[in-house]
Formats: sequence, structure tokens, C-alpha cells
Amino acid sequence: MLEIDGISVEYRADAGPVRAVDGVSVAVAKGEFFTLLGPSGCGKTTTLRSVAGFETPIAGRIAIAGRVVYSAERRIAVPVHKRDIAMVFQSYAIWPHMSVAENVAFPLAAAGVRGQEARGRVARALELVGLGALIDRPATQLSGGQQQRVALARAIAKDASLLLLDEPLSNLDAQLREQMRGELAALRARLGATTLYVTHDQEEALSLSDRVALMRDGRVVECGTPQDLYYRPKRLFTAQFIGRAEIVPCTVARRDGRTTLLETPLGPIASACGAAGAAGAASLMIRPEHLTIVPAGSGAPNTLPGTVASAVFLGRLFEYEIDIGGRRLKLQTLSAQPHAPGARVAVHAPPERCVLIDETTERH
Ligand SMILES: Nc1ncnc2c1ncn2[C@@H]1O[C@H](COP(=O)(O)OP(=O)(O)OP(=O)(O)O)[C@@H](O)[C@H]1O
Ligand SMILES: [Mg+2]
Repeated sequence: MLEIDGISVEYRADAGPVRAVDGVSVAVAKGEFFTLLGPSGCGKTTTLRSVAGFETPIAGRIAIAGRVVYSAERRIAVPVHKRDIAMVFQSYAIWPHMSVAENVAFPLAAAGVRGQEARGRVARALELVGLGALIDRPATQLSGGQQQRVALARAIAKDASLLLLDEPLSNLDAQLREQMRGELAALRARLGATTLYVTHDQEEALSLSDRVALMRDGRVVECGTPQDLYYRPKRLFTAQFIGRAEIVPCTVARRDGRTTLLETPLGPIASACGAAGAAGAASLMIRPEHLTIVPAGSGAPNTLPGTVASAVFLGRLFEYEIDIGGRRLKLQTLSAQPHAPGARVAVHAPPERCVLIDETTERH
């Protein structure tokens, strides 16, 4: 439904051109909810605006529903209003002098949809976002979350092949954002629209998306399902940007079937996940909630003797720092039985949660 093929975008600036997007390629299937995730300034909005036609790349190709809308080579650049898209902008704008219904109907009128057909689509879109009862209310008399939903309804009503959403929840307070995130998830199931979604919020990305492309410095670092990126990151940047990660430098000692044996400052560790082809210096990633405290001296594989350095009660969890051979590892557990600082314990790291990444921290 959407193909972005090697696009680069430059902005003119006083100090010369700024490369905001640098060779991004992404393919989104029909009905898929696809998210561009990454830190501020990594090029998410620029990529989305290029798909919409508000920016013109200097290289690459973009096709929507099989139709090429941009091609540097073939000098094609279809204007915004002729692309089959609907967009909600990062700073969504609703028109204060119009009612809720007029806000949603306005782009339809601009596209030549009027009368009965327009009224039907407006009512359906507002129903979908839960604003059916407020259809005649002036747009100024809405809460932030309701305004957000009007912006969303306006995009939905267009019935475009592709929905482009740029941080649609960013202007909401934390509680409302969580509520709207749930509503978006429900909405996406009902709507089944192909969506390109932009956010810097990993929870939003993980909870809403079929697939996520993680971006940095104008490039896609890694693309995969939320669970791929969380449990099996291939890049150190992914491991550290999504969730919390302990990164331990290691050396590949040998392979034994599906398991790779690693030498690490924590002691020998068996990894059954990640870069099977890695050799020499690499990195081991473990997430704090995948480590467990077991009785000292258990001697089982991947069980590392250590000392509790700190224990912090976080309500739902205990968070420990465990000193293992002079290195501190963070560990989180639901366990209600605290271990006091100074206690001698052992930490177990399941091999399938010990992810081998074929990068060293220096190169990273
Ligand atoms: N109009 C512009 N002129 C010059 N540089 C720009 C312009 N718009 C964006 N940039 C630069 O391009 C890069 C990418 O910007 P972009 O807005 O795509 O980032 P983003 O990932 O959407 O960030 P955020 O999460 O903060 O919205 C940034 O370095 C930004 O400073
Ligand atoms: Mg942005």
C-alpha cells in the first residue's frame, strides 16, 4: 500500500544543507499499522511529510496504493491534494470558528464530497471516535482530547488509502494520552485502515503497531514487530532506545548447536538468542526484568554469584543493583521478598533472554 524507496530529504540552512532524511526505505502492507519511532529530530515528521507531498525529497521513490507519487529519477511529484492520503499533523489544528461537524466536513467539501454523502461520512467518522453526541457543538467548547478526536475524525472521514498520523497524542496529558492510546487501538481494529504513525513514545509504538521502524539521524536503524525489537534487537541502539537494557561487552568463545558460549566480565554466559554469526568481540544484552535472583551456590548454568548493592522499592517492583565481579547489573522483580544490600545472592539469566548483538560498544 505504501512503498518508500531510498528517499533523502535536505533542508536549506544558513550553514549549508541539512540532511534530515538519509536513504529511508519502508514498505507498509494494506491494513498494516506501521510506526516510525525515534528520538526528536531523527527525521520522522520529514519522512511523513514527504509521503504526504509537503516535502520534496532529493532522491528516491514513493508509491501509494501502487501509484508512484514521487520519483526523483522520473521527475514525478504528485501534489498533496492529488495523493490518496489523510493526515493528522503533529500540531493538529481544528478550526475554532466552526462546529465539530463542520470541522470534519470541511476537507470533504474541498474534495468535492457534499450533501447526503458528506453528512453520512461525517456522522460515521465522529461515531467512530466517540464524538457522535457532540456533532453540533462549537469546536471551541471541547477538551484537548476531544479536539484531538475531531482532528482524527477529519482524517478518517476522507476515507483515504493511507492515514498519516504525526504524534497525534503528543498534546495530551499523561492520563488522557493513555486513554486515547486505548481508543486508537480499538479504532484501528474497527477501521482496518493502512496507517503510517509517527511517535517518539516507545509505549505508543509497541502497543499500537504491527511493525515499527526505529530511526536515528535520518536513517532506519532497525525494522520489525514490537516483540522482535524488544526481545531480539539486532542493534545496540534498538536495545537501548526500547525498554531498559544491560549491555555487557563479550567475546564469542564457541558455538554449541543453537547456543553461543560467551566470555564476559560477569563470567561465562550461554546465549540462545541473537546474532548466530557473531565472532570475536560483540555485546550481550539482558533486560532487567529477565534476570531473577536465585539462592547463592545453585551452580546451574548462567547463574552468576553476586552481592546486592542496592534495593529500591518501586511499588509494583523491586529494583536491585547486583554487584557481579565488580560490574553492576540492574534487576527488576515482582517479588515481595526483599533482599537487603550486602546479601550474597546469585542471579540467573535465561539463555533465550541473553541476546547476542554483533556490535561493540566502542563502534556503537
Ligand atoms: N524547515 C526546516 N528547516 C531546516 N531544518 C529542518 C526543518 N524541519 C526540520 N529540520 C531538521 O531536520 C531534522 C529532522 O526533523 P524532523 O522534524 O523530521 O524530526 P522528528 O523526528 O519529527 O522530530 P520530533 O520528534 O522532534 O518531531 C532535524 O534535525 C530538524 O532540525
Ligand atoms: Mg516530528
